[in-house]
Amino acid sequence: MSKTVSQNHNREYTENTEHTLDAEELSSGLNTEFIGRTLFVFDEIDSTNTKAKQDFQSPDGSVFIAETQTAGKGRLGREWNSEKGSGIYMSILLKPNISPEKAPLLTLIAGLAVCRIMRRRNFSASIKWPNDIVTDGKKVCGILTEMSAENGKINYIVCGIGINVNNTDFNDTLKVKATSLFIESGTKQCRKTIFREILHEFEKCYMHFLKNGIEPFLPEYKKYCITLNSEINVTAENQSLRATAVDIDSDGSLIVQYGGVLRKISSGEVSVRGIYGYV
Ligand code: BTN
Repeated sequence: MSKTVSQNHNREYTENTEHTLDAEELSSGLNTEFIGRTLFVFDEIDSTNTKAKQDFQSPDGSVFIAETQTAGKGRLGREWNSEKGSGIYMSILLKPNISPEKAPLLTLIAGLAVCRIMRRRNFSASIKWPNDIVTDGKKVCGILTEMSAENGKINYIVCGIGINVNNTDFNDTLKVKATSLFIESGTKQCRKTIFREILHEFEKCYMHFLKNGIEPFLPEYKKYCITLNSEINVTAENQSLRATAVDIDSDGSLIVQYGGVLRKISSGEVSVRGIYGYV
């Protein structure tokens, strides 16, 4: 049996308890089998992904969540803005028995789970391939999946999810491409409820994925994927190519049409932007 571990470090600031992340409360309403059943809560940490990787010996499904991150990591070496007490910054430690090539598919699965929850809450959420959830043309959630593997076997995967829930503090660069659920709805959202809903949805999708692969998810993923059928710039190693996104492959890569030929783009090192803006 897994257990709930509470690590509330240095709680120095005061906030309405209803809006702080408390390990006991977060886990008491959790209806998952194993995801988040071991839970580490931090007031401040460098990055929940880094912590999950350091603590990889924790049980499968352990979740690391923080009120703020001082070195939150995004894809392609970018920073993740982690405004204190406003967003959800969490990492899920997973030890699946799948081949390492399949690990990027977990980003798609996590993105779909988040997208479903946001839509259920009446946000017009879509997916910008591979890992951004956008609403109203701006990013509200990003996912960073990291893996350790040896000899063709996965040691662990860390799936980091950052959601702008009640965030308002975006700098000028971010303001044009990022938003939060609060900004979009005008109403403060309860991070605890969203946290529980996402873990539950993620677990459901993850278990189904382990059993049945990505195929059953692709129609829905494609339906919500706003990258498809749009003109995009694909940037890698300072080179940019303009293409049309036409499909998602069963290995999770994006199929683009470029100069009359089809090419597969894998998520690893590329940035995909709409030609007229962020999406
Ligand atoms: C991206 O869109 O570039 C991915 C952003 C991922 C951010 C989350 S926040 C929780 C976890 N810890 C990190 O350092 N990064 C991820």
